[in-house]
Parts: sequence; structure tokens; C-alpha cells
Amino acid sequence: MDTIRVRGGARLEGRVAISGAKNAALPIIAACLLAEGECRLEEVPHLADVDTMCGVVRELGLRVLPGRQTLTIINEGITGVAPPYDFVRRMRASFLVLGPLLARAGKVKVALPGGCAIGARPIDLHLKGLAALGAEIEVKNGWVKARARRLRGASIYLDFPSVGATENIMMAAALAEGTTTIENAAGEPEIVDLANFINAMGGRITGAGTRVIRVEGVKQLRGTSHAVIPDRIEAGTFMVAAAATGGDVLVENVIPTHLKAVMAKLREAGAVLEEENGGVRVRAELPPKAVDLKTMPYPGFPTDMQAQFMALLTVAQGSSVITETVFENRFMHVNELKRMGAQIVIEGHCAVVKGVEKLTGACVKATDLRAGAALVIAGLMAEGETEIGCVHHIRRGYEDLVGKLQGLGADITEN
Ligand code: EPZ
Repeated sequence: MDTIRVRGGARLEGRVAISGAKNAALPIIAACLLAEGECRLEEVPHLADVDTMCGVVRELGLRVLPGRQTLTIINEGITGVAPPYDFVRRMRASFLVLGPLLARAGKVKVALPGGCAIGARPIDLHLKGLAALGAEIEVKNGWVKARARRLRGASIYLDFPSVGATENIMMAAALAEGTTTIENAAGEPEIVDLANFINAMGGRITGAGTRVIRVEGVKQLRGTSHAVIPDRIEAGTFMVAAAATGGDVLVENVIPTHLKAVMAKLREAGAVLEEENGGVRVRAELPPKAVDLKTMPYPGFPTDMQAQFMALLTVAQGSSVITETVFENRFMHVNELKRMGAQIVIEGHCAVVKGVEKLTGACVKATDLRAGAALVIAGLMAEGETEIGCVHHIRRGYEDLVGKLQGLGADITEN
């Protein structure tokens, strides 16, 4: 079965350790295609999406040796340039092999990543950037074919600070001839982590984390060791869950500067957050205060935290306005929350959430990863039992979410 059952009412208490960041590990695994030799990665989370990305690079000739603490990836030469269609259809992040394969093998054939529940997810900015580096690109019959004898540095402006496009271009530019400037680049912590990894392999990237990234191409990159940063979205999810249950939780292995917007909004909603030896302690009384929020590229409020925060605000004192500016269809969780008694009206990119006394348990379905997390939070808050279906979405991005919540006193099981 693919369900989670949660009985609401328990205050979450205790401490929870955050795992490595999914959205840093995925591009870093793809970047191993750039290296010659062995890469040893620590803190890689045990997730379905990580297994998929490991499968992709294995298909391309890399040896992947999973260990308890260390994921070892050995690159003794690339033997394929076309990751299997179903990998890319299953996980759009597989598209991140485009840049590295162009840089190392000079050609690539990869399926057009499909849209998903949260939006059309186009890739025009990826292709525009790689073409600027000298790649010849053809999009036909659901495939992207690209080739380049030698990539050459260029000045690239991104119409939108796309995370994936910034990553693909940065990886391709790392081995290009000359210098590349990426303007209006994404500045997420995961971009910085990828840049640090490439620099540890011998790359020359500066400005990661700002809107202007400079990449000085080098001839060769060698294997290295790297520890992936903690997952700021998993951390934010547990912080919101603590506040939503009026709990008292120490969220450990957190980099607070990665969570400024989320922590500010939680404080605005009445929670008390204190930084304590490498973690953040979150305490809250119920009900939360209503707050307005608008998702923005980093360092703004992260779109990946919008659904979870909406769950919290369903029982706030007053009405909250949530504006989703990053994806065009990231309100799939609204109808499921309404099945639990939430009062939410969608007006275009805005959702108006009118606080209610309490939520009631119901049968609901996860439509995407973060919507699933939001429904778990709602189930923790609700009166009675909630059954959440399609929880394979949740397993893609949260390492042992149910086990970690049980450790905090939640009445939750999965099967
Ligand atoms: C990354 O997706 C994350 N995934 C997403 O996390 C996250 O929501 C997103 O960044 C925004 O922060 C990974 O890192 C694996 P984008 P990505 O390119 O790279 C438009 C999760 O829950 N766009 O920054 O696909 C696009 O349509 C996932 O962990 C173009 O128009 O996001 C969207 O509206 C969900 N053309 C906006 O930019 C392009 O070529 C942001 O997309 C590329 C993107």
C-alpha cells in the first residue's frame, strides 16, 4: 500500500536530525560526470530521487558504490550519452546530466522532462544557456539532442533565476574554453554547494549565491570528497510541524542563514525560535497568527515551503493571503486541505486562507512531494484520523519522515 495514517492531537516534542539536502545531492551526483576518478559524498540522503539519479549516472558508465555513510562514485570514462527515457520521465532532475555530458562527451540525447503537478516546467533557459556556450541543440519527438566539439565561455543572462538552468550551465561552463558569466543566476544554497563541489574538483567558480556567477573553464576536473549541506526544506517542514502542533522541537543539523525567510514568517505567526548549538529550537502556542506570504527565488520565501505553511495557516487567527510567484500551478494541496475542513479560496496566483477552529481527519491524496508533507502536517493538527494516499511522492524527498515524526511523539504509521 502507499498510505500514511496519522491521528492528530499530539504536541511534537524532542529533537530531530535533518538529513542532507536532496536538491544539492542530485546536481552533485550529476556533476560527478565531469570528474576523472573517484568522488566520495557524505550526508547524501537515502531517498528515491537519489536512487534514480544514481541509476542515471550508472547507465552512463559511472560506478556507484552506496555505503552507510558514504556514497562513492567512480568515473573511469563515460560509456553512454543517453539516459534511459523512463528515468527522465520519472524524475525531471535527471535533465541535469545535459550540461556535464556536453562538457565531457560532447554530445547528449535526453528525453524532454515532462511537466508535473506543479507546472509546465519548461527548459528553454537551460537550452538557451547551453547554446550560448556553443552547443548545437535539436528538440524533436520528445527528445533533446545536443552536441558541441568544444564549449566556449560566454555571457549569459537568465530571464528567470532558474535553479536547474543555473546548475546545467555552471556544470557545462566548468570545462569550457574561457570564462562564462551567468547573470540573474539562481542563488539558492544548493547552487553554492554545487559550486563548492566543482571547485573542490579543481573548478574555478566565483559568485555562487549571488545573481552573477563567473566560471573560468579548466581542462580537467578530478574526483574529490564532499559533504552535502543539510536540507533546508526538510528543516523548514519540521519547524512548521512543531509550530502547527503547539510543540517544542529542537531541529538539529540546520544552517539558520538558509532559513531566514521561513524563520521570520514563523516568528510573525507567533512561534518562538532560538538557535541552539547547530540547531533551531521551535516552540509555539496555538492558534498561530495569520500572516501573508509570497514565494520568491532565494533568499525570498521558498516555494517548496508554501504548502506546508498553508497547512499551518488553516487554523490561524484571521485570514492569510499566500501568493505563489514561482510555479503556475502549485495549489494542488488546497482541495485536499479543504476536505479536512480548511477554508481556502484561490484567486489566480493567490490563495486566501481563512482560519478555522480546527481541521478534521479525512482521506486525502498527495499530489506532489511538498503537498504530501503539507497533508501530513494537517493530519498532525486535525481532530481524528487522516489517511494520506500516494505517499510515494513523499518518499522521493523526505528520508524516513514517518520515523522521525514518531520520534517526536506523533501518532503516525505508514504501509
Ligand atoms: C528546483 O527545480 C527544485 N528541484 C524545486 O524543488 C524547486 O521548487 C525549484 O528549483 C525552485 O526553487 C531541484 O532542485 C531538483 P526552476 P527547477 O528552474 O530547477 C521556470 C522540490 O519540491 N523555468 O528554478 O526545475 C519554471 O517553469 C522541487 O524539491 C522556465 O521558465 O526550478 C518555474 O516557473 C519542486 N524555463 C521557475 O522557472 C526554464 O528553462 C522555477 O523553476 C527553467 C525554469
